[in-house]
Amino acid sequence: MLLLDPYRLGAITLTNRMVMAPLTRNRAPGGTPNPLMVEYYTQRATAGLIITEGTQVGPLGQGYQDTPGIYTDAQRDGWRLVTDAVHHAGGHIFAQLWHVGRVSHSFYHGKQPVAPSAIVPNGKAYTPDGMKPYETPHALTAEEITRVVAEFHRGAQVAHEAGFDGVEIHGANGYLIDQFLQTGANQRTDEYGVTPARRTRFLLEVVKAVTSVWPSERVGVRVSPAGGSNGIHDADPVETFTHVARELDGHGLAYMHVIEAAVGTDGPDERQVCSTALVRESYHGTVITAGGYTPETAERALEKGTADLVAFGRLFIANPDFVERVRLGAQLNEPDQPTFYAPGPHGYVDYPTMSVSGANPEPRVA
Ligand SMILES: Cc1cc2nc3c(=O)[nH]c(=O)nc-3n(C[C@H](O)[C@H](O)[C@H](O)COP(=O)(O)O)c2cc1C
Repeated sequence: MLLLDPYRLGAITLTNRMVMAPLTRNRAPGGTPNPLMVEYYTQRATAGLIITEGTQVGPLGQGYQDTPGIYTDAQRDGWRLVTDAVHHAGGHIFAQLWHVGRVSHSFYHGKQPVAPSAIVPNGKAYTPDGMKPYETPHALTAEEITRVVAEFHRGAQVAHEAGFDGVEIHGANGYLIDQFLQTGANQRTDEYGVTPARRTRFLLEVVKAVTSVWPSERVGVRVSPAGGSNGIHDADPVETFTHVARELDGHGLAYMHVIEAAVGTDGPDERQVCSTALVRESYHGTVITAGGYTPETAERALEKGTADLVAFGRLFIANPDFVERVRLGAQLNEPDQPTFYAPGPHGYVDYPTMSVSGANPEPRVA
């Protein structure tokens, strides 16, 4: 199976082509990684590459309860426990650097959320007091943008000190970078708005800041051209994301990571315009594809050359020994949606492995 073949990713050799997708799990009270998170990531260290859950690069980058940060010394020390344990178990792990922009709420930091433009997203914000209407974001000035870029720089530094193998810049799912990229959230008329080139400027500034800390072959970028998450949309996603892919091509990055479909929607449909194929046309480095894949559809994507690596989200939540199950063709555990974002160990570190659920795995039905 191609999925189980090793893969050379820049300076790193991955033991297989199965990537654990970034997954927010809200298990970091106070924003600091803890022993429960160490256990969770270590259980999944047989993934070719783990990409952590989104980690906010500063207080205003937070939009959900108990998500971990990557800007204080305590957070660095907490992450160091995670990276040491994953490395000890033979795995590789990148930190996902995240700023939610307008998807934040003053509940988390007492301030007005920030965004490229003062446009309220559709939907409601998650807070521990329940769902609240989104607030009108403050449109960042050029000087404030420089400060946010500096936060990404700091996040990259903390990730380096914490012993990660690399970082992924979260440019997807309607968060701050995506808000700059897509016309539905960006109505700026300065050098950060209007044309695809100018809307991509913020992303490129972040890439530049992060690659001043890390060799570019240890930096990935995640995008979601199909849009939709957190009220994001673009007038011409093909034009926008072709431009993004062209701009990132030639930076010598570790990879581009492309999401095909939002959670809960159908996975990639071979008849549709495929976001991964769109990026692949203009980007010549490693491509990771994600969104609704099963081991079978993932294998087909690798066979066809649609992507080089495949990321799985919910299946890695439910199957700590996912790689081993695929190797044996064993049955997979079902993900338990109600515990995705719930606090505590249940639904987090207590999914059974095959050795717990029985020594004779039943063959999986494709
Ligand atoms: C519980 C949960 C949390 C997620 N958190 C993140 C995140 O922090 N960063 C991110 O880029 N995507 C996040 N995603 C999206 C996943 O990385 C992935 O793209 C999506 O789940 C589709 O893949 P799947 O069908 O294999 O689950 C999340 C998805 C789920 C289900």
